Amino acid sequence: MSTNKYGFSTNSVHAGEEPDFREGATGDVVVPIHLSTTFARKQVEIPTAGYEYTRSLNPTRKALETKLAMLENARYGLVFSSGLAAETTVLIALLKSGDHIVAFDDLYGGTKRLFNNVFNEYGIQVSYVDATDAARVEEAIRPETRVVWVETPSNPLLKVCDIRAIAAITRKHELTLVADNTFLSPYFQNPLDLGADIVIHSSTKYIGGHSDVLGGAVLLSDAALYESLQYRQNAVGAVLSPFDSYLTLRGIKTFSLRMEQHQKNAFAIAHFLESHPKVSRVIYPGLESHPQHELSKSQTQGHGGVLSFEIKGTGTEAKNFLESLHLFALAESLGGVESLIELPSAMTHSGIPKELREQIGITDTLIRVSVGIEDVNDLIGDLSQALELSTKH
Ligand SMILES: Cc1ncc(COP(=O)(O)O)c(C=O)c1O
Repeated sequence: MSTNKYGFSTNSVHAGEEPDFREGATGDVVVPIHLSTTFARKQVEIPTAGYEYTRSLNPTRKALETKLAMLENARYGLVFSSGLAAETTVLIALLKSGDHIVAFDDLYGGTKRLFNNVFNEYGIQVSYVDATDAARVEEAIRPETRVVWVETPSNPLLKVCDIRAIAAITRKHELTLVADNTFLSPYFQNPLDLGADIVIHSSTKYIGGHSDVLGGAVLLSDAALYESLQYRQNAVGAVLSPFDSYLTLRGIKTFSLRMEQHQKNAFAIAHFLESHPKVSRVIYPGLESHPQHELSKSQTQGHGGVLSFEIKGTGTEAKNFLESLHLFALAESLGGVESLIELPSAMTHSGIPKELREQIGITDTLIRVSVGIEDVNDLIGDLSQALELSTKH
C-alpha cells in the first residue's frame, strides 16, 4: 500500500526503491533483480519477509508495483506480463457468466477482440457506445451491467471522454469504472482522481518507454478488489518477470523528462502539419481545433505524444509518404523514445471491415504518429521531405 508524500519525478526515481539498511543488507540504490523463483525459510510456517514463490510475490516486481501505485495516486498496484494479461485478470475478477459491459466504441482493437471473441464465449455481453457523450453510456446500462470500460484519448482518432461525468453515472448505478490510461500515462492523467475505480495500462508503451519490454499494470485503491485481483493473478499466473520488472523500473526513472519532450515535440509537429498544404486534418487534443480540447484540458495535465493526421490525396500517396521517411520507424505500437508512424487502415486497424472503418473515420489516408524524443527539427525535416515525395512517385 502506498501513501504519496513526494512529487511525480521524485517518486519516479525513488518510490519502491528505498535502500535497505537492515542487518546484512547492502543499501543498493537500484532494486536488485531477484531471479529466485522460490524463497527459503528458517521456520516451517514463517515465509521469509512474506516471500514464498515468485508467481505469488517477488521483491523486484513488488518495487515496480509500489512505484506505479504512487504515480497513479493509487493505494495498490499489480503488474502483469502484458496489458492484455492485466485486462483479462480484471475481467475475471469483476464478471461472471450473464454479466454485461458497456464499453467505449473506440477501444484498442485487442481489447475488443478479448471482449468479443474470448469473454463472449463465457457468456459475457458487451455494448459499444460513443462514450464522448456520457448520456449514451447511461442509456446502454442494463440490469446485468457490472462494468463500464473506457479508454481516453482513444486510438487512432484521439476522441476524449469525460471521466468525471461517466464516474458519476457508474457511482449512481453501482458499477465499476475501468479506465485504460495507456495513451496519456500517469504523468498526464490520473483517472482514479477523476472517479474511476480501476486504471489499466499497457506498460509496454510510455511507462516502459523504450520499446523493449512488454507489460501491463492495474492500479486501484479498493482493498477488497485488490485482494481479489491479487488472488486471481496468482491463480492464472499472469505476472511480469523479475527482469522485465527491472527494465520497466529503469524506464520509469526518466518518466517526466520523456513525457515533457514527447509532448513538446508533438505540439511542434502538430503545428507544422496543421499549416502544411498536403495535410487536410490534424487530430491532437492539445490543439484548439480538437473538438474536445477544453474537456481534455479540464481532466489532464497535458495532451501526450500521439497525434493523427490525414494526408491529402489517395491511400497510395499516404503509403508513398510513409515509405519515404528515414527517421520515423514504420511500425505499430507507441510510447517509446523513438518516433513511430503507421497507417491504421493497413496496420493496427486492418481487422475492422473497410466500410466500418470509413464510417468511424479511419480512412486510407489517416496516419498515426507516436512522437519520440528526438530533435524536433530532424523530425520535421523528415516529415517535410516525405510529404514532398509522396506525390512524386
Ligand atoms: C490502449 C491500449 N490498451 C491495451 C493494450 C494492450 O497492451 P499489450 O500490447 O501490452 O498487451 C494496448 C496495446 O497496444 C493499447 O494500445
